[in-house]
Amino acid sequence: MDFKQRITQLRTELNEHNHKYYVLNNPTISDQEFDSLMHELEVLEREHPELDDPYSPTHRVGSDLSQGFEQWNHKRRMLSLGNTYSVAEVEEYVRRCKDGLGGEDFQTVGEMKFDGTSISLHYEHGRLVRAVTRGDGEKGDVVTLNVITIRSIPLELKGTGWPEEFEIRGEIVLPWKEFDRLNAEREFNEEPLFANPRNAASGTIKMQNSAEVARRGLDAYFYYLLGDNLPFDNHYDNMMAAKEWGFKVSESMTLLHSIEDVVEFISHWDTARKQLPVATDGLVFKVNSLRQQLNLGFTAKSPRWAIAYKFQAERALTELKYVSFETGRSGVITPVANLEPVLLSGTIVKRASLHNEDIIRALDIHDHDMVYVEKGGEIIPKITGVNIESRSTTAQRVKFVSHCPACGTPLIRVDGEAAWVCPNRWGCVPQITGRVEHFVGRKMMNIDGIGEETVETLYNRGLISDISSLYHLRAEDLSTLEGWGERSAERVLQGIEQSKQVPFERVVYALSIPFVGETVARRVARAVGNIDALMSMPVEQLTAIEDVGPRIAQSIVEYFGDERNRTIVEKLRNAGVQMAMSEKSNAGRTDILAGKSLVISGTFALHSRDEYKEMIELNGGKNVGSISKKTDYLLAGDNMGPAKLEKATKLGIPIISEQQFLEMIAKTTE
Ligand code: IVH
Repeated sequence: MDFKQRITQLRTELNEHNHKYYVLNNPTISDQEFDSLMHELEVLEREHPELDDPYSPTHRVGSDLSQGFEQWNHKRRMLSLGNTYSVAEVEEYVRRCKDGLGGEDFQTVGEMKFDGTSISLHYEHGRLVRAVTRGDGEKGDVVTLNVITIRSIPLELKGTGWPEEFEIRGEIVLPWKEFDRLNAEREFNEEPLFANPRNAASGTIKMQNSAEVARRGLDAYFYYLLGDNLPFDNHYDNMMAAKEWGFKVSESMTLLHSIEDVVEFISHWDTARKQLPVATDGLVFKVNSLRQQLNLGFTAKSPRWAIAYKFQAERALTELKYVSFETGRSGVITPVANLEPVLLSGTIVKRASLHNEDIIRALDIHDHDMVYVEKGGEIIPKITGVNIESRSTTAQRVKFVSHCPACGTPLIRVDGEAAWVCPNRWGCVPQITGRVEHFVGRKMMNIDGIGEETVETLYNRGLISDISSLYHLRAEDLSTLEGWGERSAERVLQGIEQSKQVPFERVVYALSIPFVGETVARRVARAVGNIDALMSMPVEQLTAIEDVGPRIAQSIVEYFGDERNRTIVEKLRNAGVQMAMSEKSNAGRTDILAGKSLVISGTFALHSRDEYKEMIELNGGKNVGSISKKTDYLLAGDNMGPAKLEKATKLGIPIISEQQFLEMIAKTTE
């Protein structure tokens, strides 16, 4: 067999195994065997770049390149569904359908209403050609590169009988397991949490970076086949056919023959849905026959042949004991409702976030109000309303604090932002200890054995005053702490010693510069190379770095404008903490492309796209996803999209080949 045949064979086999694993939940080979087939294909594709295919299973891991989404007009509008909230309303709907059909009998299909974000996939000749979001219902964003990373979605169809051209719609969801993992990670990084899997799914599918999408673990269920030559004249059989072609169609999809069946379906799934791996917010009932669907037609907003029955969000009524205000590491004040404990979806809820002052105002919440707590798809319970009837006439409105609850400093609120902030960065204890807790975190300096309580004790005893004093701790300072011995003290000191080897990019993250999270810190560190360059960089140069906007740039400049931060940096430097990218990662660094933005397009013979991206950054430039007036060069490989070429030509942007690019950056290293 020649390499061409082997590549085709590997792609088919890997697609088959993806389907067995992600759709059927029934793998037939071990992960190791799968990885080894994948590796073989990767090697062959690298050796024969001319046979690259965007639909190859190797592309399911996505790419770090920004995309810039194209828009697509939906051939058939993407409508919503009418809602009902009670069994009686569903019964009424069934009666209306029968009337609408002139008394004719009909079958109903009952299915889950998945709580994610809708997607429309277009297939031609058995291949996925396009994935489009709902958008405004008329037109959506083309997110094909992100959708390809969802492994349960077939890129090439299995079996036979599919129309040459069709559309299939479904819901992209983030399974509970992945949602919990993602939020735990975000909590650790002090990034805002996703309120529910729906927000996480819709945010993720619109991300610019498909490699990040691939890491998030999205899944997709399909529920609507559209096209001119569908194999059957009814919805249920069409969906079962789609299942044979490789789509994930919910096992719960059921053909119902009578109103009793419908009622039974509702009462079963009202509780059984809690066992499902993904979030659902209701059930959908559809008239099965396509002819009858056509007869019933559409209203302006939704089909008359389908209805959604929404589950009641789990809600409890309890007393608000008091509202407390907490100051975080960055000085932001969070109001927290402390509640009379109440049982909600199996857990006891005692606290719920009130987010910010605007939310407290909107709820018009008073002391000791009876409040409704909900936990629909949300992981963090929230207060959704107040039972005004049980309010005492003398109850006072809950007021947001005007001074920091920890240090008494008057709070400030930046125009356009919802948060009140304590500006006392240097004297407010939770801010100081919060920064130390952040500094020792696993993704920052990774100093094990120092938790929240230890930081507080060390601070209260005067043993630490900021992050740099960690490096002056002695064994006797630690071993006398309650519950500590020599061994645990030694372990922490070892961790502190080892932290001096932590790469510069994580040091930048560990400094707690407001708005500088893990990714931005990495980008900034790689772009600037060392702390002295970073400390003296003006806003304009900082904003030329990818992912750095004016707010972040301003925050960095303000941070290093403060003498106290500069002193801490000096102390860390003297202690031996890494203040520059290592020799290895610095090798070849120049600023020949400083301030320049380049677009990469097409396939290359000498280096991979990722390597070119790295070279651009290493030489001080910025790699951007789409061509605009601001683009300085288009680095063009083979098979470049005609649209990009045309746009670059029209805007007069210099188009350079890989040889020209390599010569350009070689000049400076001479
Ligand atoms: S059918 C023309 N079936 O709910 C009607 N929609 O509220 C096409 N959804 O935009 C939709 N599960 O994103 C249908 N089993 C299901 C569904 C479902 C979730 C979503 C879909 C739609 C929204 C309408």
